[in-house]
Amino acid sequence: MANKKTENGTAYIEINNARYELPIYKPSIGPNVIDISKLYSQANVFTYDPGFTSTANCSSTITFVDGENGVLLYRGYKIEDLVEHADFLEVAYLLLNGELPNKIEKAEFDEAVTKHSMLHEQMSRFYQGFRRDAHPMAITCGVIGALSAFYHDSTDINDPHQRMVASRRLIAKMPTIAAMAYKYSLGQPFVYPRNDLDYASNFMYMCFSVPTEEYKVNKVLADALDKVFILHADHEQNASTSTVRLAGSSGANPFACIAAGVASLWGPAHGGANEAALNMLEEIGTTDNITQYIKKAKDPNDPFRLMGFGHRVYKSYDPRAKIMQKTCHEVLDVLGLKNDPLLKVAMELEKIALEDPYFVEKKLYPNVDFYSGIILKALGFPKDMFTVLFALARTVGWISQWKEMIADTEQRIGRPRQLYIGNIDKNFKKIQDR
Ligand code: SDX
Repeated sequence: MANKKTENGTAYIEINNARYELPIYKPSIGPNVIDISKLYSQANVFTYDPGFTSTANCSSTITFVDGENGVLLYRGYKIEDLVEHADFLEVAYLLLNGELPNKIEKAEFDEAVTKHSMLHEQMSRFYQGFRRDAHPMAITCGVIGALSAFYHDSTDINDPHQRMVASRRLIAKMPTIAAMAYKYSLGQPFVYPRNDLDYASNFMYMCFSVPTEEYKVNKVLADALDKVFILHADHEQNASTSTVRLAGSSGANPFACIAAGVASLWGPAHGGANEAALNMLEEIGTTDNITQYIKKAKDPNDPFRLMGFGHRVYKSYDPRAKIMQKTCHEVLDVLGLKNDPLLKVAMELEKIALEDPYFVEKKLYPNVDFYSGIILKALGFPKDMFTVLFALARTVGWISQWKEMIADTEQRIGRPRQLYIGNIDKNFKKIQDR
């Protein structure tokens, strides 16, 4: 039955002629898990797994990724079905609460998020402290951390009501914070959210409208952005989600934990890859240059990698990349940009890479970040806003995982150990003797 660990036999480990039994748990789906939590106390040994390639740090019922078959499930629902039939707030409700909302629950949740979308007016002064050319991820990280200075009434992590309020505040305010970072970079006035617009439309309105004229949201493009948000909402225990969980395990308030997640997502190996992938496509420029860049990507002595390619878990096509490619064509068609040169380079690069033995053997496929940059650029966002949009969408996953961790009776403060290979027994010498 889903939602619980079931013992599924025993693993044995022999160390210095002593034999130790380790319970094996059977998941609802995916690989079995060996419980090593008692190994150190029983055998005085640590396990070693840099990058956690073989380590499960928690049990979870939220998201499942089958990397071999390119499957992504949110609470058991296929990502393809959710993108096709649900909107982002419906998926947010699902990730937060474990089940899709009925009409009444959906209306209440939409209303709650809509009515929390404004930021405390004093927070707009935070933006004034940044240079106009500050990266919007730096601003977003700072402002989210600062939310705990304004919303003390939703920082008690032991109060389920406060946890729910903090979750809804973060989901509601992320678009406003992100849009304000964008407006600040342009030197344009901040635009207040509107309660008559849906989540994605409101975000586009706050980013692209100006006080001097009427702005009409293009609903087709807003719906495409809503799909992009759904695709980025959660993804198991990736680097930024693990960061949020580790920060939360010390009892830090939810705003501080989400700010830590934003910081981790920013890296080019993770959420920063969408901005890096578009930079790469622009650097390649035309399909004639692809061969030389593929050569660079394969050269072990060249740090260049194909950004938007490869994945720690997906060893087949990232299902999100497939949907993103389809959405990319739809958006470019609506905008009359179907001959976009960057899309041409991306499609040709993907074709060549997927036939190249290097990428085939290493099972390197396009990931969620490969096409997203082309869509976001076509929607009018500058490159330095791409990872901010990833963070906006992933806030739902981060806060859902954080809530699950807080409620998990097995969870304790995260405190990994190490393989110490440094010096021991060093004799101190006074500075005059060194
Ligand atoms: C995201 O974890 C998640 O779920 C993340 C994410 C989410 O939704 O949260 O899916 C979002 O972060 C997607 C990934 C975005 N990053 C990129 O597109 C950056 C480019 N990709 C790589 O840096 C890399 O593929 C990673 C970081 C994504 C995965 O790294 P791993 O699992 O540690 O794999 P690796 O670096 O050990 O690579 C294995 C081999 C290496 O060659 P060898 O040392 O075995 O000879 O494949 C090579 C790598 O050199 N390789 C690449 C490559 N990615 C890996 N070679 C060229 N181009 C690439 N993109």
